[in-house]
Amino acid sequence: MEERGVPAMGRTLFLPLLWIAMLTSAARVVQCLPYDYSSSSECLPEPLEPQYGGGILRNANFSAGLQGWSAFGYGAVEEGLSATGNGYGVARNRTRPYQSVSQKVYLQNDTHYTLSAWLQVSNGSADVRAVVKTDGEFIHAGAVEARSGCWSILKGGLTAPASGAAELYFESNATVDIWVDSVSLQPFSREEWAAHHHAAIKSARKKTVRLRARDSAGKPVPGAQVRVEHVRSGFPLGSAMSAEILQSPAYQRWFTSRFTVTTFENEMKWYSTERVQGREDYSVPDAMLRFAKSHGIAVRGHNVFWDQPSQQPAWVRSLSQRQLQQATARRIRSVMSRYAGQVIAWDVVNENLHFQFFEDKFGWDASAEFYRRAHQMDGQALMSMNEYNTLEWPGDTLAGPSKYLGKLFQIKKFPGNANDARMAIGLEGHFSVPSIPYIRAALDTMSKANAPIWLTEIDVAPGPNQAHYLEQILREVYAHPAVHGIILWTARHPQGCYVMCLTDDNFRNLPTGDVVDKLIAEWKTHSLAGVADADGYYEAELFHGDYKVTVSHPVANSTVVQSLSIDRETDTDSEYTIHV
Ligand SMILES: *[C@@H]1O[C@H](CO)[C@@H](O)[C@H](O)[C@H]1NC(C)=O
Ligand SMILES: *[C@@H]1O[C@H](CO)[C@@H](O)[C@H](O)[C@H]1NC(C)=O
Ligand SMILES: *[C@@H]1O[C@H](CO)[C@@H](O)[C@H](O)[C@H]1NC(C)=O
Ligand SMILES: *[C@@H]1O[C@H](CO)[C@@H](O)[C@H](O)[C@H]1NC(C)=O
Ligand SMILES: *[C@@H]1O[C@H](CO)[C@@H](O)[C@H](O)[C@H]1NC(C)=O
Ligand SMILES: *[C@@H]1O[C@H](CO)[C@@H](O)[C@H](O)[C@H]1NC(C)=O
Repeated sequence: MEERGVPAMGRTLFLPLLWIAMLTSAARVVQCLPYDYSSSSECLPEPLEPQYGGGILRNANFSAGLQGWSAFGYGAVEEGLSATGNGYGVARNRTRPYQSVSQKVYLQNDTHYTLSAWLQVSNGSADVRAVVKTDGEFIHAGAVEARSGCWSILKGGLTAPASGAAELYFESNATVDIWVDSVSLQPFSREEWAAHHHAAIKSARKKTVRLRARDSAGKPVPGAQVRVEHVRSGFPLGSAMSAEILQSPAYQRWFTSRFTVTTFENEMKWYSTERVQGREDYSVPDAMLRFAKSHGIAVRGHNVFWDQPSQQPAWVRSLSQRQLQQATARRIRSVMSRYAGQVIAWDVVNENLHFQFFEDKFGWDASAEFYRRAHQMDGQALMSMNEYNTLEWPGDTLAGPSKYLGKLFQIKKFPGNANDARMAIGLEGHFSVPSIPYIRAALDTMSKANAPIWLTEIDVAPGPNQAHYLEQILREVYAHPAVHGIILWTARHPQGCYVMCLTDDNFRNLPTGDVVDKLIAEWKTHSLAGVADADGYYEAELFHGDYKVTVSHPVANSTVVQSLSIDRETDTDSEYTIHV
């Protein structure tokens, strides 16, 4: 990798630079700008300093007034000054959504840009979106619900579709003033981006383990022969499954040889288990759960309720308020008592950012109430939200990171939840064309809730780049330290899949399946063999997972086989003693 062409002004601000050796060219040491994962879920009295000193932006913190900034869309901008003397830009007297503070930049083709900006509005709260206008395109780079009286971070990004002049600006449908400060637009080459993955995987998915061979008297055994074999991956990677798996040995073989976690595509949903009011039938999900258990495959409970009106059982739509209350109470008790302790997570109210069937019936805190009840029913499982477009569409203001976290905090704060409901973040991931820098930036903000993040339904719309996009997305989310598991939305039916299949009818890989198999192989430690040093130590960098360790004494004829589990919870510098 070549040294990056950092503008001279910015260079001094980029210290300290990390030296990262790329695996692919071990002999060459390359200079890479590390990625700044920081973000915030809070609204702060003063904005923080711009990331990367502003990157390619000039006067990123408005310390030189409005220099470098201008009005976009025949708007009016002026300088604002806080009580503590912090200057910022203000878009005033706005009558059009796009009227705001803007700066002209020059973008390099095929380069990833990470964007961050601190925003405030003059009254109430308003959705504000960041837009980059290039020659012929308006690229949405992220959004935030900005408030008055404090500063919120908008973190996002884009990949430049061509080299050329562009303009960064902000837009809002509310006619409030928009305040802007501490903006940053930082380019990263593909090589740098991959180096970030490499560094993050090393710290979030692997551990350096020191095995020490000792004899029965406790003395180190130099020269002991050590063999480490991968048994099972520690990172939950899975696929949705359909009831067809119960009848198909080929489907079963394909699934169980790859995946350690699953979601039933539709079989546990209310419309499946109680198609006719009062006649519950759990025979299919029961059988699927038995199958999953018998192969050590963990199951996400999907879902207790779904906030989309069109996804209710047909009979539910005509119930009175009182009848609906009784029906929902029965539903949550029925499905959760049946599977409590047997699933690792529950999607309690699916898609409650885009839809509000239950909020419309029961009031604004309907979801929070269901999560409270769910937590009582199953104290072990994670209680997850599950939503689309948080990572897929930077422009969807209904489900952006700030909206998602707002709902999550509302549920956590609800009386009775007392912050002890084990909340989790489910991000579906139904992509068409992914914005890779945006995905990472949105995950940065989502990670500030300190709740485990799962990708729950990944697929990519058909097209010539489907497999390529899938690979980029999987690499991005796997490498993000806040992500705890990934499930692909690739349940197979004789007639195909929801949007994306991994195989054909005979369970032979499609290009998407090849991508998944390649990554499964890449994300596990292949068998290692070596000899302990003079102090009996053998050191290895291992992916999280279960291993079989075989140690042989070099002189005495004795061999010991031991199992070893490496996970993200246990201490970093792990040392294990093996008596041989
Ligand atoms: C703002 O940016 C300038 C130039 O990058 C820097 O010297 C200054 O320390 C920054 N912070 C403030 C609060 O002005
Ligand atoms: C906004 O409108 C007010 C009232 O017309 C005017 O006094 C002020 O100068 C305008 N601000 C800007 C920045 O144009
Ligand atoms: C602020 O917004 C509220 C409603 O959200 C509105 O009633 C009020 O007039 C607004 N104030 C100003 C100064 O625009
Ligand atoms: C931008 O870069 C990509 C990838 O290298 C290339 O395929 C594309 O043709 C370039 N576009 C322009 C407008 O130069
Ligand atoms: C403004 O409103 C339009 C029409 O409802 C919508 O499509 C767009 O997303 C909104 N923009 C923002 C920034 O909220
Ligand atoms: C080592 O022990 C095994 C059984 O414990 C035996 O089969 C083997 O022949 C022995 N080898 C030597 C070199 O003593």
